[in-house]
Amino acid sequence: MQPIISVSHLSKTYASGFRALKDIDLEIRPGEIFALLGPNGAGKTTLIGVICGIVNPTKGEILAGGYDIITEYRAARSMIGLVPQELTTDSFETVWATVNFSRGLFGKKPNPGYLEKVLRDLSLWDKKDSKIMTLSGGMKRRVMIAKALSHEPRILFLDEPTAGVDVELRRDMWEMVRGLREGGVTIILTTHYIDEAEEMADRIGVINNGEIVLIEEKAELMRKLGKKQLTLQLRDRIEGVPGELADYHLELAAEGTELVYTYDAQNGRADIAALLADLNGTGIRFKDLQTKQSSLEEIFVNLVREER
Ligand SMILES: Nc1ncnc2c1ncn2[C@@H]1O[C@H](COP(=O)(O)OP(=O)(O)O)[C@@H](O)[C@H]1O
Ligand SMILES: [Mg+2]
Repeated sequence: MQPIISVSHLSKTYASGFRALKDIDLEIRPGEIFALLGPNGAGKTTLIGVICGIVNPTKGEILAGGYDIITEYRAARSMIGLVPQELTTDSFETVWATVNFSRGLFGKKPNPGYLEKVLRDLSLWDKKDSKIMTLSGGMKRRVMIAKALSHEPRILFLDEPTAGVDVELRRDMWEMVRGLREGGVTIILTTHYIDEAEEMADRIGVINNGEIVLIEEKAELMRKLGKKQLTLQLRDRIEGVPGELADYHLELAAEGTELVYTYDAQNGRADIAALLADLNGTGIRFKDLQTKQSSLEEIFVNLVREER
């Protein structure tokens, strides 16, 4: 399948001389939810800015919906809706006027039926005649999304959509994003919340210091990099790990009452059977056991740490 966005060899050096993006290659698949994950200052907003034509690239080529974002700017830009990180809303206007105006900026013919659907989907329809200044923060955010969707884009960028919003609004936002995807919109969201990427994304890209560190299917990422831990709660306290078990690199925890075994998620089974047999041979008895899989959060922290 042709990518809906393709970025190749993109670099951005700001006028200050700061290299915010370094030789980025990225392809976005039509219909996916792609989460771009990275710490503050990693280059997420810069990357989105370049794709949306707000920031000039220093080097590289970018196609959106098959159009070159420089030489075919208008066509490329009309494919894209952008909900920026910083909320700017013209607060004396009504919701309806704002969204209509946004659509007009893209040279699209009026389509009240479509805009009504957008506002209904965002639970804003009963607020259509309200001035934006009278709305709550969460509603203002949804107005920004309605504006971004006003010209029927096939690609939607959400730059930190849930930064600083409460838990309930985050849930609503996630629901809404899923709904948009069902409607055929490709979604690229940036976040520095790992749980958000874990919850939402089909694929995850990690960016750090202006470089893409990794791009992977979420499930694959969890499988490949996820470590599992088996904790054995011992019947009796032990002073140290017996030499016969040295190969397992066990850790003694909880003041000598727990043994912790860390292993790769892919090939754990056989090793566990062997460990339990060997443990039995040492005469150590356990009364209970638990396994736990490392979260995306731990994976991510490790990745970013390795890079530094
Ligand atoms: N206009 C600019 N001039 C110089 N440096 C900038 C400019 N905008 C952003 N930067 C720097 O580029 C880096 C990446 O910023 P940004 O893309 O906003 O990161 P993120 O969105 O991942 O937090 C940061 O170090 C930031 O200070
Ligand atoms: Mg940002």
